[in-house]
Amino acid sequence: MLQHKIAELKKQKNAVILAHYYQIPEIQEVADYVGDSLGLSQKAAETDADMIVFAGVHFMAETAKILNPSKKVLLPDVNAGCSLAESCPPEAFQKFINSHPDHLVITYVNCSAEIKAMSDIVCTSSNAVAIVNSVPEDKPIIFAPDKNLGRYVMQETGRELLLWDGSCVVHEAFSADKLISLIQQHPDAKIIAHPESETHILKTANYIGSTAGMISFVKQHPEHKFIVATEAGILYKMQEAVPQATLIPAPAKEDNNCACSECAFMKMNTLEKLYNCLQMEAPEILVAEDIQNKALYPINRMLELSA
Ligand code: 13P
Ligand code: SF4
Repeated sequence: MLQHKIAELKKQKNAVILAHYYQIPEIQEVADYVGDSLGLSQKAAETDADMIVFAGVHFMAETAKILNPSKKVLLPDVNAGCSLAESCPPEAFQKFINSHPDHLVITYVNCSAEIKAMSDIVCTSSNAVAIVNSVPEDKPIIFAPDKNLGRYVMQETGRELLLWDGSCVVHEAFSADKLISLIQQHPDAKIIAHPESETHILKTANYIGSTAGMISFVKQHPEHKFIVATEAGILYKMQEAVPQATLIPAPAKEDNNCACSECAFMKMNTLEKLYNCLQMEAPEILVAEDIQNKALYPINRMLELSA
């Protein structure tokens, strides 16, 4: 069976498999660690494995490479990108920064290494509020690339942020109308949402947080029913953590080819590709040395502020 072969190869090569909650269940099962973006960065920073296989998307593997320049970092499908990262092209972002030279630049980890290299501090959905709060109040801040997370952070911190106009296709695919009728059908359900979702979805939520935060919240209310507004891959670990909870995925708009929201990029990784990538030690993720050096500082700032 492929999962056994992966476990064997991983041992032989002293590799670690890090997987995001949005990966397919078969991949989450063979991973050494499954987590949110902050947890995955922390694991990547502390691993003593020789090789990191990142079952996630490109920016996540790139972050692991920046933290481990001497290690081999592999991504099962090199085309596993991210709509949010793509919504922030480096040249345009450099111009944006240049036109606001007095601003501190905080970037959400869902961006390319080039964007991180232009940043002062990186953040994830689990520490964005704390990181913005760590900046002196009189310092103006550019927050990029996710405008939805940015609006949420503005509301939580009471700070004015200069936002980049980026977003995640998956979290913008939730239908507010369908969500409202679902809430009417299940008035006892708690709504939990990822802050990449749009403001009108977040307004309905009882809890807003990162994927790991959402799982912790569900664990604290094990007997409840939940409507879950994030990528459907999270349901696997969430249900495993709290088998008695009723989990209902938040509905996507008509034009989505899935009843729930799935990230096509996350789902590019398969068990076969994971096996092939470990065996061939490819595709390997590389980051140019100058970008690597510049991007390390804002990532380390985030890790220090989140320790
Ligand atoms: P977190 O798991 O850090 O909440 O991020 C969600 C996401 O969209 C990753 O691409
Ligand atoms: Fe990017 Fe959205 Fe997919 Fe996360 S869910 S990888 S933010 S496109």
